[in-house]
Amino acid sequence: MAKVKTEKTPVDLLTAKQAAAEHARLAAEISQHDKRYYQQDRPSVSDADYDALRLRYTAIEARFPDLRTLESLSLKVGAAPTGKFKKVRHAVAMLSLDNAFEEQDVVDFAARIRRFLKLGEDEKITFSAEPKIDGLSMSLRYENGELITAATRGDGAEGEDVTANIKTLKQVPHRLKGKQAPKVVEVRGEVYMTKADFLALNERQKAADEPIFANPRNSAAGSLRQKDPTVTASRPLGFFAYAWGQMSELPAASQSGMIEWFGACGFNTNPLTKICHSVEELLVFHRKIEEQRARLDYDIDGVVYKVDRLDWQERLGFVSRSPRWAIAHKFPAERAITVLKDIEIQVGRTGVLTPVAKLEPVGVGGVVVSNATLHNEDYIKGIGGSGEQLREGRDIRIGDTVIIQRAGDVIPQVVDVVLDKRPKDAKPYRFPKKCPCILHTEVMREETATGEEGARARCTGEFACPYQKIEHLKLFVSRRAFDIEGLGEKQIELFFENEWIKEPADIFKLPVLNKKIKLEEQEGFGETSVRNLFASIDERREISLDRFIYSLGIRHVGETTALALARGYGSWKAFHDACLIVAKDDEEAKAEMDALDQIGETVIESIAAYFGESHNRGIVERLTNEVNILDAEKSKTDSAIAGKTVVFTGSLEKMTREEAKATAERLGAKAAGSVSKKTDYLVAGPGAGTKLAEAKKHGVTVLTEDEWLKLVGG
Ligand code: IVH
Repeated sequence: MAKVKTEKTPVDLLTAKQAAAEHARLAAEISQHDKRYYQQDRPSVSDADYDALRLRYTAIEARFPDLRTLESLSLKVGAAPTGKFKKVRHAVAMLSLDNAFEEQDVVDFAARIRRFLKLGEDEKITFSAEPKIDGLSMSLRYENGELITAATRGDGAEGEDVTANIKTLKQVPHRLKGKQAPKVVEVRGEVYMTKADFLALNERQKAADEPIFANPRNSAAGSLRQKDPTVTASRPLGFFAYAWGQMSELPAASQSGMIEWFGACGFNTNPLTKICHSVEELLVFHRKIEEQRARLDYDIDGVVYKVDRLDWQERLGFVSRSPRWAIAHKFPAERAITVLKDIEIQVGRTGVLTPVAKLEPVGVGGVVVSNATLHNEDYIKGIGGSGEQLREGRDIRIGDTVIIQRAGDVIPQVVDVVLDKRPKDAKPYRFPKKCPCILHTEVMREETATGEEGARARCTGEFACPYQKIEHLKLFVSRRAFDIEGLGEKQIELFFENEWIKEPADIFKLPVLNKKIKLEEQEGFGETSVRNLFASIDERREISLDRFIYSLGIRHVGETTALALARGYGSWKAFHDACLIVAKDDEEAKAEMDALDQIGETVIESIAAYFGESHNRGIVERLTNEVNILDAEKSKTDSAIAGKTVVFTGSLEKMTREEAKATAERLGAKAAGSVSKKTDYLVAGPGAGTKLAEAKKHGVTVLTEDEWLKLVGG
């Protein structure tokens, strides 16, 4: 086994610069070791050496808390990187929930359901209201009553097999209780650690000089991801059952009936779960649970409302990745008071200048925060109409005592100022007129859709602005894009400053360039880490189409959009060819793109602008020479209406208009609002008027509601 090289300088004597360089090196090295240990099961260092690296990493962070970010490894202790367990494909995807923050969002949620199902005003909707447990979701598969597999959520489609560890949980039955269970039962719920057990575990960790966990959720995750199930067994974990995946038979017709059945099978179900018959009752439930929150022995971050009737759940279906029949009503964010030491300007990938508050480090909801967003120039000045705004009469100045807020995983933000504590000499902040990049390019305020001045300031340097380039590179290597192990934000900054990497394609040329630059001889690198880095770069020479599209960093093309584009075009060639002609303003190519589910005008314009620039086309071409882009599974081509445009008119009797549109979109068709010669089908119910006449004029196929249902398979 290789011996790791630890720096000789005592942590107390490190300068801030040395500490930052070593912190980055250690982060990369520890990640590499984690990967070898957990994913490949072939560690290259002894446990003692690994612990020494971790110890030094935490010691550096303890002395320089600014180095600790939300990404920091020390916040993920125990939560090893994914991959050390076998992958399990979920028979039914594990989706997430849409969030409601305001009471109005809950009112809208219920109204949406009512509209979708076309319910009369006097028809009651019964909801099951439950606490939202802040743990880890788990899918437990039972076949003929026996626990076969326990899998984490993973990316929703594929999780990790943690069966051996889950079997150590007292609250998970190995065999379902009661009379004959259906052949296949997938029970879903949350694994959690109680607050008391979390505190006790941290005490033990501290006493043993082991790293401590940031919050109960992390400690539950860390405890589950143990290689040795006896370690999991020594950590007290609980489980609440609240949902299900594949079921060969449904033993109940309602959410509450299912929960009751889970209880009869031997599961713990949450005792606070309550049936509510109106939005008012839901809101009362929310207030009541929030009031009890601090006294509960487990962490919750909101409540969940679910339509109780399962036939309605079925009809309501899903939109994107969340069900229409459920919503998570979150509790307000956690807040803390601290001092604003400085304001720094960050330039994003698309050139937007964001002021960032540099704070006296402070703990908020289990995480140490030293940076928070200040949104934009107007926010700091306390002016502005739309979007985020401070309370009237306030502005933010360096030296102020400020209130910061962290909601879930959202970036912390400065939300208020304690004016009484303002230092006498504090001056209003002057937002820079020039980009802080070496070009000092002019900063322009954006225009809003109505042509007025917007709040966001943008650097006009575009491709020449190094900040924009660097931010794109950071996105490129990030977990959701190329996910290059050992090449994180800090390494990108270093390589970019040294001009070793100027654009994505350069990453793949690093191994060759290394003959000249000899990375292993640079401060902060060693032979092993360089070897591992090159191995992870090489591993990523093959990439899925959706990740590739996302990694280009085109404005408005996030992960979901990239996936929709990948599924729509199937191959890089088809997508790229389409983009090039879309960039030439080709109406047909644009219409084809527009017909894809989830793709609209904003995305198309952004794609056209991106591929309209020869600089971008060059970047893409050089990159495609380095990587192999795998074809995507073209979606929905097997449905009879895939790629078609459908219009609904008149009154439909067996479904609501929204329901019909949702079905069309789910099967790959575009549901349009008006008839044109591009319309393929008009589904006309009684009372159809001008649209029917239009359809006849254009020779569009007209279907009755029954014919439509037959076409889409009921
Ligand atoms: S229902 C189709 N019920 O929240 C979605 N989820 O944001 C089924 N969660 O991934 C989930 N408590 O990990 C549901 N009572 C509850 C929950 C709950 C916590 C978690 C779950 C899910 C996440 C969604």
